[in-house]
Amino acid sequence: MRTDMGIHIAPSILSADFAHLADEVRGVAGADWLHVDVMDNHFVPNLTLGVPVVESLAKATDTPLDLHLMIEDPDRWAPAYVEAGASSVTFHVEAATAPVRLARELRSAGARAGMALRPATPVEPYEELLPELDMLLVMTVEPGFGGQAFLDLCLPKIRRARALLDRHGLDLRLQVDGGVSLETIERCAEAGADTFVAGSAVFGADDPAAMVETLRASAEAAAARR
Ligand code: DX5
Ligand code: ZN
Repeated sequence: MRTDMGIHIAPSILSADFAHLADEVRGVAGADWLHVDVMDNHFVPNLTLGVPVVESLAKATDTPLDLHLMIEDPDRWAPAYVEAGASSVTFHVEAATAPVRLARELRSAGARAGMALRPATPVEPYEELLPELDMLLVMTVEPGFGGQAFLDLCLPKIRRARALLDRHGLDLRLQVDGGVSLETIERCAEAGADTFVAGSAVFGADDPAAMVETLRASAEAAAARR
């Protein structure tokens, strides 16, 4: 059972109304983090937002911004998101040229450094890199779009990642993103995830704030069974 770091719920604004972002964000003020998906139409076949929107969002909310960069050449572009006000910046290891150097740069700029794995990317080759990171993101859909179905095939990787973190005594957060809902969050928490991104489940709910709390309660109950 893990109680040291606590469950974090991070609503993804990808499923919010982009024309009313400040209102949408106020509506989930009880969330631990706000998950912000940056897509460049190259690493993934979708385009979202960039540095200027993150700067404005940072001014509009006190909730820490958790950036998920689905972009090529994060080595070049990621540090600007720290400057823009992100408290956590996650890059995809498949796109990074020098993940250790990048993680160190993000940390020295004052952000938490995260590394993301697409569903087909194994965690084991990166075991030695883990101490350089504050968070490992195991994608549970192919990145690019909200509202996709959760991939159960990612659950064994979550378990293996949790075992690696425990074996090395590392206090990284283990985040899951994609298809996380009341139907799937318990499976993720039982497998060892402690940080949950939810886009359509939160912003598609009649009461997004209540959904954040329901998801949290569900994850906490499942984590306590581990
Ligand atoms: C997908 C993004 C996710 C997305 C999740 O590539 O990284 O953060 O917003 O959306 P749901 O929770 O609807 O699967
Ligand atoms: Zn994301």
